[in-house]
Amino acid sequence: MKQETSGALVFFGASGDLAFKKIFPALQAMVKHGTLNVPIIGVAKAGWTVDQLRARAKESVEQHGGLDADAFSKMCGLMRYVDGDYADFATFEELRGQLKGLRNPAHYLAIPPLLFEKVVEQIAKIGDQSGARIILEKPFGHDLESAKHLNEVLHGFFPEKAIFRIDHYLGKHPVHNIIVFRFANAFMEPFWNRNYIESIQITMAEDFGVQGRGSFYDQTGTVRDVVQNHLLQLLSNLLMEPPPRSDSESVRDEKVKVLKAIPALNAKHLVRGQFDGYRQEPGVRPDSNVETFAALKLEVESWRWKGTPIYIRAGKNLPVTCTEILARFRKPPTIIPESARFQNHLRFRISPEMTIGQGTTVMAPGSGLHGEAVELVASRHPCPEEMEAYERVLTEAMAGDPTLFARQDYVEEAWRIVAPALSSNSPVIQYKPGSWGPDEVETLVPIAGGWHNPATSDKEDFRVLDKSGNEVETQHAAN
Ligand code: BG6
Repeated sequence: MKQETSGALVFFGASGDLAFKKIFPALQAMVKHGTLNVPIIGVAKAGWTVDQLRARAKESVEQHGGLDADAFSKMCGLMRYVDGDYADFATFEELRGQLKGLRNPAHYLAIPPLLFEKVVEQIAKIGDQSGARIILEKPFGHDLESAKHLNEVLHGFFPEKAIFRIDHYLGKHPVHNIIVFRFANAFMEPFWNRNYIESIQITMAEDFGVQGRGSFYDQTGTVRDVVQNHLLQLLSNLLMEPPPRSDSESVRDEKVKVLKAIPALNAKHLVRGQFDGYRQEPGVRPDSNVETFAALKLEVESWRWKGTPIYIRAGKNLPVTCTEILARFRKPPTIIPESARFQNHLRFRISPEMTIGQGTTVMAPGSGLHGEAVELVASRHPCPEEMEAYERVLTEAMAGDPTLFARQDYVEEAWRIVAPALSSNSPVIQYKPGSWGPDEVETLVPIAGGWHNPATSDKEDFRVLDKSGNEVETQHAAN
């Protein structure tokens, strides 16, 4: 369902943090790559002029990725600015003036979710909105009820095809590559199911804390911040059936089917943790019960996956910054002794580098039956020239292609799955910054073969580390 390209990009929240860190650099890259050549209208209540907006953009690109003189000067030429309060219709009247004669404007709401309803209503009041688009930052809702409500409000003014719900993970090349790797390779299909795959685990680790976002984080927590959205999106790409066609709705239909097959989380299979020191962060309540770490187990009731448990773990202040997926294979019946072989796996490293590797056992050099763990690496890229996630999603939204955006039904299913974690009264267990979360994870959410702790760098050969950070699988196994 591709639509006409937008004739203007309006972005609300032009003076905000997200604009500074992500949006200006993405816009500069779009101008550089020729995908943005229409008026860019920043809206904020900062008391700025357009020159101040340009100055802010300059500072932003200098700090985040670097200034490209040509692209930056073109971008400045495209920039306009509207200053004012979002509650005041005069702001939107001025915007209407700026949009005169421009078709299909894309309105990007890079603002706190509390303001979404008000701003959407004001945009609708501007007048003819045929072809207009609304691009919304996450989080989309706070839970299932609020997401449904927000969907109703949006649909009161705009059709679903005009709504683009951002999950920047979908703009990451390695996330998309999961789909390509699965469906472009004949060898994947026979084993990619419950008969061969024993378990799948996804770890999203960050070695930093809340980085000054204490008050946002304390309203949010790990499950809302990254599990409900980014990690379920990864999971959908991993588990979906091949779509019959490549259009946006065929792809999104398959993704939502994955979520429909996942029962709501059983709170027994959830551990919530909080790093020591979190309650002293600015903006955090001194008695906060919000989790900065979560580990959980999900079941999938589908023909392909029933019986293969899925484990998800995410947290702040862990030992590394890395997102990695490890699928372990069931063990084959064999005459090779257990001690001389390693369990096969498929590993997708999403960040900081992209790797796809398949873990196998070969016979080690020397006499006797010794096994050696090696990884067949299908792909390993630092991706220096890759499009940054925000550039990709904004390019797609401007082009009117919703494939990389979460559809209404998908968002609601995702909230349904995590709902028990949101209402859970389970205690948050303290953990030391720099550790892999609370020790209880090992007993309360145990995995056959153990949790796989990703290594800091994938530059060296694949390594599996144990809980204390020691390598465990690159040594030879002997019979
Ligand atoms: C954001 C979360 O959506 O994703 C952050 O709000 C998190 O808490 C970030 O750090 C991670 O994204 P990336 O692209 O840096 O891996």
